[in-house]
Amino acid sequence: MPERIKIGYLGVGRYLPSNVLTNAHLEKMVDTSDEWIVQRTGIRTRRIMSPGESVVSMATAAARAALEHAGIEASRISCIRAGVNTHLRFPSLAALVQEELGIPAISASDISAGCSGFIFSVEEIYNRMFTDWILTGQTSYGLAIGVDGLSLVADYSDRSTCVLFGDGAGAAVVGPVESGEILATYTRSEGRYADLLYLDEILSVPLEDTEAMRFKLHNGIPYPFLRMAGPKVFVVAVRSMISDIKAVIDRYNQLSDSPLNVSDIEYVIPHQANLRIVTAVGEGLNLTPDQVYSDGIVNYGNTSAASIPIAYVEQWARRPGALEADVAFGAGFASGAILRRAPNR
Ligand code: UT7
Repeated sequence: MPERIKIGYLGVGRYLPSNVLTNAHLEKMVDTSDEWIVQRTGIRTRRIMSPGESVVSMATAAARAALEHAGIEASRISCIRAGVNTHLRFPSLAALVQEELGIPAISASDISAGCSGFIFSVEEIYNRMFTDWILTGQTSYGLAIGVDGLSLVADYSDRSTCVLFGDGAGAAVVGPVESGEILATYTRSEGRYADLLYLDEILSVPLEDTEAMRFKLHNGIPYPFLRMAGPKVFVVAVRSMISDIKAVIDRYNQLSDSPLNVSDIEYVIPHQANLRIVTAVGEGLNLTPDQVYSDGIVNYGNTSAASIPIAYVEQWARRPGALEADVAFGAGFASGAILRRAPNR
C-alpha cells in the first residue's frame, strides 16, 4: 500500500460559559437531591449560557481558540462542519461562525446527529481532505465544531432530564500532521429509535391552544423541550458505544496491512452522557478507570455534541503517540467513533 498522507488535529479549543448550575440550585427547582444526582449520574456542576451568550458565540470562541492553538490563520480554513442540535434556525451555525471569523466563500454547513455531531463532522472533513489530496495532490485545513446549548431545550420542570444537561462548545483544526494522525472513523444512525430521544414540535398543537404549546425564550427566540426515555436510552447507549469502538477498529483493519485489536487502545474519550454509562463502556472494553475520560460529566454535565472536543483541550498531548479512541451516542440514534494517535505536542 502506498504511503498515505497523515491527517489529524493541529489544535483544539473550547468555550464554557462562566455561569455554574450546581446540584444545590437544581434542588430548589425540582424534587431532586445532590445525593441522587451524584449517585445516578456523577454530575456535580454544569455551565449554563447567560442571556448575552448563544450557540453561535460559544462556537466562535471555541473556533478562535482552536485556530490560535494550531497557529493557523482563519483565512486558511477551506471547510467548516458544525455538529449542533440547538441552532434551530437558518442560516447554518457554521456559516455564521465563518462570517464571525471573516472567512470568504468556503464550504460551511451543520450536521444534525445528536450528541455524535462532532464525530460526524470530523469524518466529513477527514474524507474530504483525503479526496482532495487524491484528486489534486493538495492539502488544506478544516474546522470541526461540536456545540450545544441544551439548557435552551431542557424542561426545568422534568427532574428525569433537566439535571443532566450543560452548555458548551469545542473545536478542532483538522489538517496535515506529523503526529496525531486520525486512523479511521465510523458512523451510523438508527432512526427506529426516534421516539426515545427527541425535541417537541412547538407547532404540533392547535395554534389557539397556547397552554399545550410549551416552549421557552432565550434572547427572544422560542425553543421546544427535549424528551427522553432515560433508562431505555441508557441501555442502547452503552451497547452502541462498545460496538462502535470495535467497528472503528474493523474499519481501520480493512484499510491497513498492520491490523490492530481493541486491546491495543490505550485511552478512550466517550461522550459524557452519564458517569455510569462512561464506566460501563470502559468495563465493556476491559479498560481500567484511568484509561477512560470522565471529568467532563462530573464538571460540565452532558454538553451533547460538545462533550468530546471539550475533553480534547484537557487531554491534548497527555500521552504522546498513544492509540486513542473517541466514541459518541445520541438522538437518531446516531453514534460513531474516531480512532487516532495522540499528538506529540
Ligand atoms: O446524551 C444522549 C444520551 N443520553 C443518555 O444516554 C442518558 C441515558 N439515561 C440516563 O442517564 C439515566 O437513565 C437517567 C439519569 C436519565 C435516569 O437515571 P435512572 O437510574 O435510569 O433512573 P430512572 O429513570 O430509572 O428512575 C429511578 C427513580 C424513579 O423513581 P421511582 O419510580 O423508582 O420512585 C424516578 O422517578 O428515580 C426517580 N428520579 C429522580 N429522583 C430524584 C428520576 N430523576 C430523578 C431526579 N432526582 N433527578
